[in-house]
Amino acid sequence: EWTMENFIDLEVEKIRANVGDRRVLCALSGGVDSSVTAMLVHRAIGDQLTCMFIDHGLLRKDEGTRVMQMFEGKFDINVVKIDASERFLTKLKGVSDPEQKRKIIGNEFIFIFEEESSKLENMDFLAQGTLYTDVIESGTATAQTIKSHHNVGGLPEDMKLDLIEPLNTLFKDEVRELGTELGLPESFVWRQPFPGPGLGIRVLGEITSEKLEIVRESDAVLHDVLEKAGLDKEIWQFFTALPDMRSVGVMGDNRTYDYTVGVRAVTSIDGMTSDWARIPHDVLETISTRIVNEVPQVNRVVYDITSKPPATIEWE
Ligand code: XMP
Repeated sequence: EWTMENFIDLEVEKIRANVGDRRVLCALSGGVDSSVTAMLVHRAIGDQLTCMFIDHGLLRKDEGTRVMQMFEGKFDINVVKIDASERFLTKLKGVSDPEQKRKIIGNEFIFIFEEESSKLENMDFLAQGTLYTDVIESGTATAQTIKSHHNVGGLPEDMKLDLIEPLNTLFKDEVRELGTELGLPESFVWRQPFPGPGLGIRVLGEITSEKLEIVRESDAVLHDVLEKAGLDKEIWQFFTALPDMRSVGVMGDNRTYDYTVGVRAVTSIDGMTSDWARIPHDVLETISTRIVNEVPQVNRVVYDITSKPPATIEWE
């Protein structure tokens, strides 16, 4: 009989037999797939697992702290955190083309992962959250988190690590079930999709730390309002984007010339198509008022009412 508990027992046995007393590395992003992979491998081999969490400075508010508190703090998993914000910002300076931004972020991510993991001695395996759907889509088992996450090609060539892909027979909903069974909290199990390039593609055009701060803070406000309104679970994905423009406003007796924040909230099944979420007007009003009041340098909020197609969900 196939049950989740049986699956866990079998996989744990398989991982133990495969790994023996050797060591496993896992790239942790905080997303569902890598989180569940880390939990499962940790259940099997404990301290022989080391996770690497690269903070590219394009994460949402408090995201890095949450990941560390959960995996290192609560679950006592070895996590090496790499703070690479400055490196990414430097590489991205002056770049405004969306595809180029994606490429730079993806390549830099792999480069840093490779560089940092080569400092860890005696790693033999790389654990990845490849799902069954990833295997089908790519036709090969080498499609892996880093790649699909960042839309760049393959495993670093000279990383001589054997792959462990314990989720590669599962669908997304089964991975969530598995995560729950392994004790992963709801906030991780039901995390909405977040693109590998992170806030880097939500600051439109050139990325600066000032703009990142605006998109990060406005996103946190949006999250808070939708959570309080009880809408955060029914909307498939929501976030703010920062167009590369400013407009005129008035605050008190003063004319302002500040940023416009775009709010995106969509319903979808798989992200391939989507519709804009019919958020009640009073909630939209709260979103707008709070973002303008709480986020410096913002004087206007617009709501994106485009479906996909013809628009995409992300703005870049
Ligand atoms: P688009 O903007 O293409 O997004 O309609 C569809 C879904 O995919 C997510 N997305 C990404 N996910 N790496 C990812 O892992 C990426 O580079 C990437 N770009 C978009 C997006 O957030 C949405 O859920």
